[in-house]
Amino acid sequence: MEIVKTKVAIIGSGPAGLLLGQLLYKAGIHHVIIEQRSAEYVASRIRAGILEQVSVDLLEQAGVDQNLKAKGLPHSGIEILTNGKKHRVDLSSLTEGKQVTVYGQTEVTKDLMQAREHAELTSFYEAEQVQVDDFYSKPKVTFHYHGKDYQIECDFIAGCDGYHGVCRASVPEDKIKTFEKVYPFGWLGVLADVPPVADELIYVQSERGFALCSMRSETRSRYYLQVPLTDHVEDWSDERFWEELKRRLDPESREKLVTGVSIEKSIAPLRSFVTEPMRFGQLFLAGDAAHIVPPTGAKGLNLAASDIAYLSSALIEYYHEGSEQGINEYSEKCLQRVWKAERFSWWMTHLLHRFETESEFDHKIKQAELSYILTSQAGQTTLAENYVGLPYEIRPLNNLQPVG
Ligand code: APR
Ligand code: PHB
Repeated sequence: MEIVKTKVAIIGSGPAGLLLGQLLYKAGIHHVIIEQRSAEYVASRIRAGILEQVSVDLLEQAGVDQNLKAKGLPHSGIEILTNGKKHRVDLSSLTEGKQVTVYGQTEVTKDLMQAREHAELTSFYEAEQVQVDDFYSKPKVTFHYHGKDYQIECDFIAGCDGYHGVCRASVPEDKIKTFEKVYPFGWLGVLADVPPVADELIYVQSERGFALCSMRSETRSRYYLQVPLTDHVEDWSDERFWEELKRRLDPESREKLVTGVSIEKSIAPLRSFVTEPMRFGQLFLAGDAAHIVPPTGAKGLNLAASDIAYLSSALIEYYHEGSEQGINEYSEKCLQRVWKAERFSWWMTHLLHRFETESEFDHKIKQAELSYILTSQAGQTTLAENYVGLPYEIRPLNNLQPVG
């Protein structure tokens, strides 16, 4: 058995694990990443693509914002299409100049992996039978890697291993509470090398269900349709997808829509899920391991980033200042922001999707709410403030010496 000693063992090499690794590296705190998939698999997963201003600031702090600054598309507004008419929500003017940036999570992941490779940091990809133990005393991570058994001895374990990961599953049942809401539909997503139908994202509420027109660049579009959970990707030829999207759009967008061959097509279920607390002894959960939001508010990656901002700050405080305050406050601080993002994502989902179970009364109330939001300054501000991201503090990383 190979024994490796480190300060922090990070489980999972998604955006949460990679960003934590990069921030700890910058702060001179030794860590390793253990990931069950291959590096190629991790770098090619297609996910969402909207970064809050604070997430951009955090990536800048981590020193991985070069591509993001060069290729990210800053957006100062979004369109909401309802009753066949588009309404622009001017995010920037409603939030004292804040904006969001369109930049694929796939790219964020690749940038972080590249930085990691450049700094020659230790990652165990394709680790098998990963197990976390003794996190209420002396934490250990064991796994099988390239034909050998490994044991990592560490001060802390960061569970960044997503919704299906091993970390949350290892917590004793009586120490954890979960909250969940499953929605009765999914999103069918298509990625295609065609120019986006509009300069800004269009969130579509229609009688035929929700749709979203998003993008990855000026030549690559990302579109979504609300579909029943019983649908399979094979049911949706490209032609059928484009036809249905057109039906949900307004006449002008329908006319402008450029269709093409899909380069990725998948159906994702929608779920709201929260774990309380987010710390168990020396084990911290972060990102999708701790919570899931439906994609309607574009909060998944951004919430993972804010967890990591709090966790990296807590660990820096612990190692550089000898204080456990950040560690002790981690769960509560995260959960306050998490629940607000959960509320916003649930609300956007509720407002813009068609629910089979809703009565005519429910439907009328929803239309009235949407109309109120889009015609009132206060209503639009509440949407804009949440969409661009609720603020949090980012700890400066200057002048930190490596921790022995
Ligand atoms: N051992 C090691 N690694 C694991 C294990 C395990 N037992 N289980 C899962 N993993 C890995 C997965 O293979 C994946 O690479 O953990 C990683 C988790 O990454 P993500 O699922 O991307 O989660 P996270 O980093 O929290 O990112 C959150 O991803 O799903 C989106 O909407 C979400 O944008 C948000 C972001
Ligand atoms: C995306 O571009 O993939 C995207 C954008 C906004 C969302 C969800 C997904 O709300």
